[in-house]
Amino acid sequence: MDDKITPGQSRNAGLGTRVVWGGEQVQHPYNATQTPIVVSAAYGYRDIDEWYDVALGKEPGFIYSRMSNPTVTVLEDKLCELESAESAVAFSTGMAAISGVLHTFLACGQRVVSTRDSYGGTNKIFEEFLPRMGVEVTLCDTLDIEAIEHEIAKGCNVLYLETPTNPTLKVLDIRRLVATAKRVGALVIADNTFATPLNQNPLALGVDVVVHSATKFLSGHGDVLGGVVCGAEHLMSHVRHYREINGASLDPFSAYLIIRGIKTLALRLRQQQASAQVLAEYLCTEPLVETVNYPGLPHHQGHVIARSQMRGFGAIVSFVLKGGMDTVTRLLPLLNYAHRAGNLGAVETIYGPARTTSHVENTLEEREALGISEGLVRVSVGIEDTEDLLADLKQAFALVHSKQRDVILHTDKTERFTEVET
Ligand SMILES: Cc1ncc(COP(=O)(O)O)c(C=O)c1O
Repeated sequence: MDDKITPGQSRNAGLGTRVVWGGEQVQHPYNATQTPIVVSAAYGYRDIDEWYDVALGKEPGFIYSRMSNPTVTVLEDKLCELESAESAVAFSTGMAAISGVLHTFLACGQRVVSTRDSYGGTNKIFEEFLPRMGVEVTLCDTLDIEAIEHEIAKGCNVLYLETPTNPTLKVLDIRRLVATAKRVGALVIADNTFATPLNQNPLALGVDVVVHSATKFLSGHGDVLGGVVCGAEHLMSHVRHYREINGASLDPFSAYLIIRGIKTLALRLRQQQASAQVLAEYLCTEPLVETVNYPGLPHHQGHVIARSQMRGFGAIVSFVLKGGMDTVTRLLPLLNYAHRAGNLGAVETIYGPARTTSHVENTLEEREALGISEGLVRVSVGIEDTEDLLADLKQAFALVHSKQRDVILHTDKTERFTEVET
C-alpha cells in the first residue's frame, strides 16, 4: 500500500472529491479498490538490513502497529489532503489526540492560554491535569477577545482554540488571535471538530496544529472512536513520537470505518447544515426557548467572523429552554427522530443537555462557573429530511405547551374548588 501512483494528487481537486480520493490513490494488494484492514501487530523481514533501515526510517515500511499501520496511514494521508497539511497522526480517540498534543508541546514551568468554552473533556485537562504537571493554565472569557489577547501578550508557549465551541457555538477570530500569538512566539493549536475540514481549515488561517475528534462528523455514523492531529512534519514528528510511546494509537478497523465515513462527509454535511439553519430559525420563534446558538443566524455573536473564516456554519445548534432541566426532561422524550445521547456528528439527529453530554465530567458548580445553563440542549442535526425534523420539533413543543395548559387549568380548577370548600 506504500506504492502510491500519484501522491497528494487530489489536493488540486475540490473538497467533495478530496473526501473520496484523498490518501487513496494507491495500488492496493490484489488490486482491491478499497483500503484493506491490515490487522498485523508486527511486520516481518527476511532481509535484516532492510528491517533495520525501515526501523531507522531510512526506507518506507512498517515495523509495529503501535508506531504505524498501513490502514491508519491511509486515514492520516486523507486528513493531510483535507486540511492541506504536510503530516497527520491518528489517535485512538479525540481526547487522546488533544492530550497527546498538549503533552507533546507543554512542559513544567510553561504556560498555555485558552478559553473557558472548550469541550468539557478538554476543560478537564486544563483544570485538572496540566496544573498537576506544573503547567500554568489561563482560561479566558471566550467572548472577550481583548482579554484573550492581553493574556497572550503576557507571554505563553501555547494558545489553544476551539471554534465553534461545544456546546455554546461561540466563534473565535482565528486570524486575529494567531497574529497575537505569533508576536510572542506561541504555538497555536485549534480543535476543528465542529467545523470539519470542509467548513474551516485552521492551518490556512495561520494555526500550527489542528486536532479533530474523528468520532464525530469525520466518521459520521456514531460507530467508532478516533482522533487525528495535523500540521507541519517538524511538529508532527514530535506528536508521532509521543503517540508511539504513550500508545494511544488508532486500531486499523476503526481507521477503516473513519476512512469509509469521510467519503460521504461532503454529502452529509450539506444536508445537515441546511437543516440546522431551518431548525435554528424555528427555535428563535419558539416561546419556550430563551436563547438559540447557531453561527448561521445573522444576530449570532460570531456570524460575521464565521462568514470570514468558515465555508458553512456547521450542523450543531444549541438552545436554552425556559424552565431549565424541568422543561428539558419534558421536551426531549417527545421527539420521534432523535437519539437522546452523548454524541454528535452522526447521520441520525441527536439531542442532549450539556449536563449529560459535553459537560458530563463537570459538577453543577463547575458548569455554572462556565456559564453552561441546565436548560442548555445541544442538537446534532442528522441527514433526515428537513421537513421531518422541523415537524418533529414543532410537535414536541406543541405537546409541552398543551400539557402546560392542562396543568394550569387543573391547578386553576383545584384552587377554585379549594376556595369554595374553605
Ligand atoms: C469539540 C470536541 N473535541 C474533542 C472531543 C473528544 O473526542 P472523543 O470523544 O473522540 O475523545 C469532543 C467530544 O465530544 C468534542 O466535542
